[in-house]
Amino acid sequence: MPPDLVISHNYPLQACNTFGIAARARCHVPITSVAELAAALADPRLAGMPRLLLGGGSNIVFTGDFDGVVLQMAIKGRALLGQRGAHTLVRAAAGEHWHGFVQWTLAQGLGGLENLSLIPGTVGAAPIQNIGAYGVELKDVLDSVTVYDIASGALRSMDAAACRFAYRDSVFKHPHGAALVIVEATFALPSAWQPNLRYAELAQALAGVSAPSAVQISEAVVAIRRRKLPDPALVGNAGSFFKNPVVSGARCADLLAAFPGLVHHAQADGSEKLAAGWLIDQCGWKGRSLGRAGVYPQQALVLVNNGGATGPDVLALARAIEDDVFARYGVRLEAEPVFV
Ligand code: EPU
Repeated sequence: MPPDLVISHNYPLQACNTFGIAARARCHVPITSVAELAAALADPRLAGMPRLLLGGGSNIVFTGDFDGVVLQMAIKGRALLGQRGAHTLVRAAAGEHWHGFVQWTLAQGLGGLENLSLIPGTVGAAPIQNIGAYGVELKDVLDSVTVYDIASGALRSMDAAACRFAYRDSVFKHPHGAALVIVEATFALPSAWQPNLRYAELAQALAGVSAPSAVQISEAVVAIRRRKLPDPALVGNAGSFFKNPVVSGARCADLLAAFPGLVHHAQADGSEKLAAGWLIDQCGWKGRSLGRAGVYPQQALVLVNNGGATGPDVLALARAIEDDVFARYGVRLEAEPVFV
């Protein structure tokens, strides 16, 4: 007996995206189990419609109404799986709130996810863009994900290598991974935990604390994020709106000759990651608005909804910023959120 689905029509999406854009979906279905996912994918009432899988909606910009079905990932559950070698394995279902899961691991006495505290969104969305902050990326702590393969209707496990993680990227953002729905993620947390204070700002925040605990690091990360990033519950936003652009070492040297203050970080392969926030800030965009969309005054990398912003308002602001940065630095910014 397939589960009964709760199908809503002409569904308002404003509360389903952290940018707070008022769009509607033709249909909306909450997904609370793998059986419901399978049922929704096979349901004749939804057949042929474009599908959008949504988690916390914290990395998405609706440019208009969505003429299809939104599958709202709401599978819950978390578990301590036990030791494997030098790690403790923990698992969470895709619909779990990311920060709630991080706090739960800390409450179990397990460190490893604390640098990724307070990142908005769900566990299932986190691997898609390989969330990262304060010196840790999800790929550093992920053991595997369980995916539902829409093509075959089967569940399978993918290890971190199979996910092809890169900076804010994974196989799930590319056509050959598009038919895979993450239903749970397993993390390998080091039993012999060590603080990761490689990010200078975090190290500074904890300079007065000798041997900080994972909980103290989490608290410091939360404090930094609260200071620099807008709370989506109060000000609509999707976190960093642009990726930090990566350029060749030679190109970076040319830019440095012209702009000695350029903020850049050398990558292992010799390329250089530039701070998009700095580029945007230098172009004078920090705190400025275009219509109902604006640039957050404390962090130029974050675009915000000043109230009533539409998808086109956000796009117009993003284009204006991209054009200015390109005109001044010859560097093309790439948006981080998904546009629907
Ligand atoms: N900067 C400016 N002006 C600004 C913003 C930044 O000059 O308005 C300079 C800063 O002074 C600093 C540099 O740019 O020297 C980098 O800034 P920051 O440390 O704030 O980090 P970021 O590169 O802007 C990235 C991630 C964030 C993550 C932080 C901390 C991306 C696209 N963004 O931001 O991730 O929290 O590092 O690790 O990689 C997100 O993806 O949504 C996100 C918030």
